[in-house]
Amino acid sequence: MKDNMRTQYFAPHWIRISALTLLCAFSPLTQAQDYPNKPITMVMPYAAGGPGDTITRLFAGSMQKILGQQILVDNTAGASGAIGTAKVARAKPDGYNLLMIHVSHATNLAMYKNLAYHPVDDFDPIGSATSGPMVIVARNEFPAKDLNEFVSYLKANQKKVSLAHAGVGSASHLCGLMMMNVLGVQLNEIPYKGTGPALTDLMGGQVDVLCDQTSGTVPSVKNGKIKAYASAGKNRLPSLPDTPAIAEAGVKGFEINISFGLYAPKGTPKPVLDKLTAALQKSVSDPEVIKRLEGMGVAAVSVEQATPNALRAHLKNEIETLGSLLIKAGVQPN
Ligand code: MLT
Repeated sequence: MKDNMRTQYFAPHWIRISALTLLCAFSPLTQAQDYPNKPITMVMPYAAGGPGDTITRLFAGSMQKILGQQILVDNTAGASGAIGTAKVARAKPDGYNLLMIHVSHATNLAMYKNLAYHPVDDFDPIGSATSGPMVIVARNEFPAKDLNEFVSYLKANQKKVSLAHAGVGSASHLCGLMMMNVLGVQLNEIPYKGTGPALTDLMGGQVDVLCDQTSGTVPSVKNGKIKAYASAGKNRLPSLPDTPAIAEAGVKGFEINISFGLYAPKGTPKPVLDKLTAALQKSVSDPEVIKRLEGMGVAAVSVEQATPNALRAHLKNEIETLGSLLIKAGVQPN
């Protein structure tokens, strides 16, 4: 009887071992132990060639050396980053689908009525990566020889002047909006899938003005393909010492800084997130990464900022402040 009960209620030894092995093979801890064991995709939700793409490729290149697996950059662009972001929100939370994004992760919540994701609920933050200023640039033939003439020309011509940006809620749109607000002008907005393509049109003279991150503009200003009128802030930028700060034209309250952060889909195993945060912290501490960013006028964040809690707090603050700023500025949600 006893033997029979044992057979009846306790599976044979080999079945229990196999079940235990299978259970271990799929436990988050085991998954993390050999993570990553295949290439990782890092979505940059703006077009190739822009400031976001430049920063994303720099970190992908650095982090892949640290993690020992290739990191492929995927420029799924459109709707000011919302299309690429939605792609990551619904991706498998296994550590192989990441998102590098900035302020539009916060502003899209206010700008799109039927957003396919929630920036907080559908993502696990890994950490912040960079922080950088913005600069007002124009096509070389733009008819203003300095900042004061630029301001006067905008006020006198308004809608005749085209202002490029990367979609409602993007950093370039926010900067353009702030510029129009402080100057009391309304320009003719031309949206692009990223400021990479916008810069191409600016260099070709097809569009007049762009307010963009230094990671997208400093090289083109330095090689004379476009001209810079002012940095969007109180002080001149070390990367563009000959360009005045907008405050020098008596314009107050126009200061904007753009920070990129790394996210994974909600539910990514914590040991995997920890590995990604550790790799990001090594990248922001890497002298080569720091030097490359400085050359674009951008700063790598501190190791303390390259953490999930710091990025979560930064995102919460941007959601609370920038969404209402856009609505107050009369921007209509799509
Ligand atoms: C923006 O917000 O303007 C984007 O970062 C532009 C880009 O990266 O292409």
